[in-house]
Amino acid sequence: MSEELTEYQGPATMEKITSLAKRRGFVFQSSEIYGGQSGAWDYGPLGIELKNRIAGNWWKTMTQLHDNIVGLDAAILMHPRTWEASGHVENFTDPLVDCKKCKTRFRADQIDPKNLAEKKCPDCGGELTDTRKFNLMFKTHIGPVESILGEIDNNLIYLRPETAQGIYVNYKNIIQSNRMKIPFGIAQIGKAFRNEIVTKNFIFRTCEFEQMEMQYFVKPGTDVETFNEWKKQRWAYYEKLGVKMDHLRWHQHGPDELAHYAKDAYDIEYLFPMGWKELEGIHNRSNYDLTRHTEFSGKDLQYIDQENGNERYIPFIIETSAGLTRTLLMLLCDAYDEEKVADKGNDDDYRTVLRFHPTVAPITVAILPLMKKDGLAELAQDIRAELREDFATDYDQSGAIGRRYRRQDEAGTPFCVTIDYESKENGTVTLRFRDSMEQVRLPRAELPDRLRKEIREYKRLK
Ligand code: GAP
Repeated sequence: MSEELTEYQGPATMEKITSLAKRRGFVFQSSEIYGGQSGAWDYGPLGIELKNRIAGNWWKTMTQLHDNIVGLDAAILMHPRTWEASGHVENFTDPLVDCKKCKTRFRADQIDPKNLAEKKCPDCGGELTDTRKFNLMFKTHIGPVESILGEIDNNLIYLRPETAQGIYVNYKNIIQSNRMKIPFGIAQIGKAFRNEIVTKNFIFRTCEFEQMEMQYFVKPGTDVETFNEWKKQRWAYYEKLGVKMDHLRWHQHGPDELAHYAKDAYDIEYLFPMGWKELEGIHNRSNYDLTRHTEFSGKDLQYIDQENGNERYIPFIIETSAGLTRTLLMLLCDAYDEEKVADKGNDDDYRTVLRFHPTVAPITVAILPLMKKDGLAELAQDIRAELREDFATDYDQSGAIGRRYRRQDEAGTPFCVTIDYESKENGTVTLRFRDSMEQVRLPRAELPDRLRKEIREYKRLK
């Protein structure tokens, strides 16, 4: 077995990723013209394409490629009792200390225990407050006025801190409407909100983010086997996406890390430029959630196994929970590369390239006429019109062809099609590959099939 990497070893830094993301329209700071809103980010034209493609790929993997997993899109606003039942009102807290002098807020579990014991601010040496529990759920009010009833706040509502609960409260609806039989899964992609005390490292930990979660309902006693199976499947998912596998590892939660609902939990961690960090969690949630929802709602949430003499039980739940926006950051870091490509002694000697897998690249194929004149632009537009029904295309006719290739490399476009005078004469075009920069000439009519084959058989060079 190869040794585990201890430090990130690629050319990416968080500064380079943040700067490229802004420059090329992947991710912008939220409300930038007002000085920015911490914990929130906006996804620009390339960013939303990348995000949609990651989501689409996950959705296909989890639903289309499984016989027994269906989708759901539940509301962000849920009945407040949901969060009492789930344990979030009581347990979803971070320990918090403030510096009385410089007013900086810290997570107590993330500062040096010596500072905590001495109540000394790690930044300015000022006095720290006692540790308090801080609930991470965002609260708001529904209806035109906030409640004036004092203790009992009838209008209080939370922004969901995980998508999972929307699935649990719908599990019976889905069994009934879709005739699902255990084992089966429900997948969902959507926004989640957490009032994170520390938001740093770009989009890694934010207050508003998106999750891709799948909850798999199983018979008690089969949970451990299913849990291990889902661990395998989620690992294979990243392998198929072409992620650098030596940048992934497992981390099992120790007793003091386990969430209040979990019987067992593993994280898939990725080696980001700032170190090993959680990317996705695979959790054995036991029958905790459905038992609690039974108690709090008064509804019978037992499964009735009609094929086994109407045996009744509360299913166990195996959860796979990945951050969509965190996966996007991982893919930006993983795909980022810098390469020397010439020896002219100027900036053109180097290129920045995002080696995205073609299934998630924001643009799959860019169409580039060598010249605007002599009918080349029209021919290129015609080829684009033909390809755009089946592929995410871009069209660029401005600037030297080398510069245009560089722009596409930086956007992570795996294929460029160049149209030149020969194209006019004999109907052939040049297909250029982002990773190797190799070019092949082929008849225009062969392009769609060739692109499909290249996408299917894609293997990253490095
Ligand atoms: N339903 C289980 C659950 O929410 P979690 O480990 O708290 O588990 C799952 O979150 C995933 O959601 C994480 O692995 C991470 O990818 C993403 N995530 C959690 N908090 C996040 C935040 N503040 N910003 C961005 N992504 C976050």
